[in-house]
Amino acid sequence: MNDFFHYFYGKKNYYMSKLFAKKSLEHLMNQDPDAHGGLKRTLGAGNLIALGIGAIIGAGLFVRTAAAAGEHAGPAVTISFLIAAIGCAFAGLCYAEFSSMIPIAGSAYTYAYATMGEIVAWIIGWALVLEYALGAATVSIAWSEYLNNLLGGAIPYEWCHSPFEQSSDGISGFINAPALFILLAITFLLIRGTQESAVVNAIIVFIKVAIVLVFIALGWQFINQDNLTPYIIPADKPGYEDPFKHGWGGILRGAAVVFFAFIGFDAVSTAAQEAKNPKRDMPIGILGSLAVCTILYILFAHVLTGVAPYTDFVGAGKEASVSFAIKTYMVKYTWLGNWINIAILAGFSSVILVMLMGQSRVFFTMSKDGLLPKAFSDLHPKFRTPFKSNIILLLFVGFFGAFLPGSLAGDLTSIGTLFAFVLVCVGVLIMRKTSPNIKRPFKTPLVPLVPILGILVCAAMIISLDGRTQLTALAWMCFGLLIYFGYSRHRSNIHKPGHNGISIKDVNAGNAIDEDLI
Ligand code: ALA
Repeated sequence: MNDFFHYFYGKKNYYMSKLFAKKSLEHLMNQDPDAHGGLKRTLGAGNLIALGIGAIIGAGLFVRTAAAAGEHAGPAVTISFLIAAIGCAFAGLCYAEFSSMIPIAGSAYTYAYATMGEIVAWIIGWALVLEYALGAATVSIAWSEYLNNLLGGAIPYEWCHSPFEQSSDGISGFINAPALFILLAITFLLIRGTQESAVVNAIIVFIKVAIVLVFIALGWQFINQDNLTPYIIPADKPGYEDPFKHGWGGILRGAAVVFFAFIGFDAVSTAAQEAKNPKRDMPIGILGSLAVCTILYILFAHVLTGVAPYTDFVGAGKEASVSFAIKTYMVKYTWLGNWINIAILAGFSSVILVMLMGQSRVFFTMSKDGLLPKAFSDLHPKFRTPFKSNIILLLFVGFFGAFLPGSLAGDLTSIGTLFAFVLVCVGVLIMRKTSPNIKRPFKTPLVPLVPILGILVCAAMIISLDGRTQLTALAWMCFGLLIYFGYSRHRSNIHKPGHNGISIKDVNAGNAIDEDLI
């Protein structure tokens, strides 16, 4: 009997240690080409703030703001922005601790693999697909809306909408062709290895901030106080049973919807190893870019809901809402509407590029780790880009862009990212207990308060989203676990004897991570 228990527990421990096997830092450093010789520490706090702002302004602001106001929060969408920003700030501080601890370029997936083990890394990697791939699909759908607005609505409804959408005069969508087109064009650029140069990037950041400032400055005089009263849509507006439809519940759901506008700010934390003085610059970079964007977003949302009644955003102004508001209520600036349209299209294209590139980078690493098929890390013989991964991604993201309504794709992106943020906050709490001595150039302040608040605020946003989004996300995560247990776990390189990282012997002995290395 004793033997049986030993056998049973021995086996259980063996499997647990396999599931939670960690990559050694040394292996990570060998694997990351950028890390050889170390990245140059050239970024100051100001550069980090610009990086953050450039990465995040996009469809979240120019499309999801109106959706959140029209459907849930009304003019109080400004408060929704504040709540989403608070969640991001707490999670961002936790993110920064991880990225400074693992001083290589990477994503939450890489950090989790080194600190919390393979299964957690897989779950985060799988949630990141929602963030990057569905995020790219959402922005491509937004791109299609603004293109159609620029062309004066010339694209027939059925050719620029999902089959799940219907126009007010009863026409059903068939396929969102412009969304598919922009994804195709950007995938082509990615395969050719065209990278946005620093100059192009700087110009696009400048244009994006300029549109926001111009809209706020010109729109302010068109604010109609009647549109801002009542500020919060009463929760008991007849016909709605859902506690998160309107009122304060609606403001919380609005926060989950506009949370999309903040996605990408984690790009700042991935630059930790390039910061001149991470201890000082990381919190300034993260909180600074969040603060600047939050102020811009709140002012923007205030003007948008002040210029147009929020009810318009579920009717005629549902699509390309910024251009709609300008062309309908700021008529003397109609000419500006078209310029803003062009600028927004350029801004969206750069967000799609960054997201598709981020996704192929995560897939590339997962494939190198053996968790995904080799095709995801095969490089093009001439362009040296992961072209097969780009093509598979195009099929996947293109399918969603062509056939999913923007609202579902956007909310799924929010929920996936919020879930990854919760795991990162939990990770900081776990790591402080299990590995207190690892060198942390940047430490999250006020632990455990900050991670706990991060978990609570992000989880509250997840809970406020609608059941359809929650169930779809749950199904996605279950599907991911099936792949992990059916495929990835058996092929993971970490378990292969003689592997550069952890050997089975190490795993059995439970000493997969060697703190001395760090
Ligand atoms: N934050 C990015 C956007 O709003 C993803 O488009």
